[in-house]
Amino acid sequence: AISQVIGRQILDSRGNPSVEVDVVLADGSSGRAAVPSGASTGANEAVELRDGDPRRFHGRGVSNAVAAVNGEVADAVTGLDAEEQALIDTTMIDLDGTKEKGRLGANAILGVSLAVAKAAAAAHRQPLYRYVGGAGARLLPVPMMNIINGGAHADNPLDFQEFMIAPVGAPTFSEAVRMGSEVFHTLRRELAGAGHSTNVGDEGGFAPDFADADEALTFVVRAIEKSGYRPGTDLAVCLDPASSEFFHDGAYVYAGEKRTRAVDEHIDYLLELAGRYPITSIEDPMAEDDFTGWKRLTARAGDRLQLVGDDVFCTDADRLTSGIEERYANAILVKVNQIGTLTETLRTVETAHRAGYRVVMSHRSGETEDTTIADLAVATGCGQIKTGSLSRSDRTAKYNQLLRIEEELGRTARYAGAV
Ligand code: PGA
Ligand code: ZN
Repeated sequence: AISQVIGRQILDSRGNPSVEVDVVLADGSSGRAAVPSGASTGANEAVELRDGDPRRFHGRGVSNAVAAVNGEVADAVTGLDAEEQALIDTTMIDLDGTKEKGRLGANAILGVSLAVAKAAAAAHRQPLYRYVGGAGARLLPVPMMNIINGGAHADNPLDFQEFMIAPVGAPTFSEAVRMGSEVFHTLRRELAGAGHSTNVGDEGGFAPDFADADEALTFVVRAIEKSGYRPGTDLAVCLDPASSEFFHDGAYVYAGEKRTRAVDEHIDYLLELAGRYPITSIEDPMAEDDFTGWKRLTARAGDRLQLVGDDVFCTDADRLTSGIEERYANAILVKVNQIGTLTETLRTVETAHRAGYRVVMSHRSGETEDTTIADLAVATGCGQIKTGSLSRSDRTAKYNQLLRIEEELGRTARYAGAV
């Protein structure tokens, strides 16, 4: 049973406050979880409770969320059996009493939810991926590695937020990491050679002053080739334009390119890029409230492109169900803090899998050293993870955890790209 719940304020990778929670059980087992934070957030995400006191952390303190953990939440869950994940999560949801977890804060609730799972896993002397996923959990995900950052994650003119490489042709996860790292360093050399900045953005990808997606994609493909790999076969290219960020008054406003594209022009442009480059997946190709655009793109390209809904679903099983019924997207990005509990996260994954939608486990642009999502990717067998570039410890921590998991699974491990 849970004997102690301890919340504290820590810093995330952008130097902003975040919530960390320790859960201690009566047998002495314990679990720790830290909560991530987005920058290009969806409008319907669970509420990240911030203090709003301008004298402390520019208003971004989380002392109220931490107080909720140490007070109301601790009182409600102490004494409960840590194996009762659904009961504990439901208890917190009911205690909060709002639809968006705005009273206690989804950051408070998620920290406790994940720390409970980790404590229960520790009590079972099992790694988290096995405790959550069972004995069959042995599929290592293909990583989508974000090697060029733009949009809300960098100070360059790039309108699209993420340019990623996915080592689909790697035989194992560790080989996928090697390939990604090699391409990342080749890209650095190519950028430097062309007189571009090699400074990195929030997710550890380079953030040069590229004018448009074409320029970024040209460098990415060249870096794959110059590393000795075949674009599309060894490493595929994936995009996250994060289109909600530049959808205004019914059109896509490309500020960096200084031009506006109507919905159909935006779709044509994305498909043209996907035709010219080895692009296999586009996340948030359409804005979260552009449902007609989503349906049109899915009808045109859903059979040959992975179309991943991030902002449009916000990891919410009900929103996903609408998408399945209305036929938009064919995959979902899963971010634990968009919904706020492990139980709801797993339900969303299940809903997706039942409908044949693919699932990409994901970090946030503001992260911590917490590696829970690496374990959840293996636990759910979802086959894909998005956790940033090959630099910055907040990103590589997840890759490193997956390397450990692969090692531990030994010859029973499988890599999603090779199956
Ligand atoms: P965020 O970005 O964490 O800043 O929301 C990640 C994404 O859009 O996928
Ligand atoms: Zn996204």
